[in-house]
Amino acid sequence: MAFALDSVVPWGRSYEEYIDMFALSTADLEGRILGCGDGPASFNTQLTRRGGSVVSVDPLYACSTDQIRARIDETFTKVIDQVSLNRGDFVWNRITDIEELGRIRMNAMQDFLEDFATGLKEQRYLPQALPELELPDQSFDLGLSSHFLFLYSRQLDLEFHLRAIKELCRITKEVRIFPLLQLDATPSPYIAPVSRHLINAGYDVHEIEVEYEFQRGGNRMLKIRRRD
Ligand SMILES: C[S@@+](CC[C@H](N)C(=O)[O-])C[C@H]1O[C@@H](n2cnc3c(N)ncnc32)[C@H](O)[C@@H]1O
Repeated sequence: MAFALDSVVPWGRSYEEYIDMFALSTADLEGRILGCGDGPASFNTQLTRRGGSVVSVDPLYACSTDQIRARIDETFTKVIDQVSLNRGDFVWNRITDIEELGRIRMNAMQDFLEDFATGLKEQRYLPQALPELELPDQSFDLGLSSHFLFLYSRQLDLEFHLRAIKELCRITKEVRIFPLLQLDATPSPYIAPVSRHLINAGYDVHEIEVEYEFQRGGNRMLKIRRRD
């Protein structure tokens, strides 16, 4: 049976994975960054420690640290079981086996959990949800969506994707979305209609190959920027 999850789960990747998934340059990291659906990833924690400017939005941030820890523990077994059952859907070079996968992800999520209370006070973690965010127009240089849009195409319909991506375009100067695959490693059916819609609305839309590939075939991001 293909990799499947009933709902969008809290599961966090590391800072280094974000750098590679989105091909983030030094100049990108010097801008003001919005991470959408960052959940328990350690990108915000680590970029803040390095002096960067980043805000993450996720409905998960309405929960307490203990509630998030409990949800991570629940998710951990589900995700690791699903990956074990579908090993062939993943590329085992950067991460060499299931044990290492568990270790990398738990380290990243532990990093996030230790930073969460401070980040909430500093308004680096905002409990908000797409498709509508309470953030001013063009207030960020770069918007990132990792493992939320397109990945959950079976749970979130085309209308949701269009509204969410237009909202990110309203708030940020450039949007990057990774991966372009669904949970079962098949391409999202929404890439073509979303791209067509955005091109007609005056945006440049490019699929860009990146260094990162864990889901087999998942080594492309979508880059969206208003045409000059
Ligand atoms: C699989 S996790 C990915 C976390 C992180 N971006 C990463 O790649 O490690 C998906 C995240 O999307 C969040 N999410 C669910 N619905 C959302 C919404 N409507 N708007 C923004 N984020 C949402 C979930 O709470 C969860 O933290």
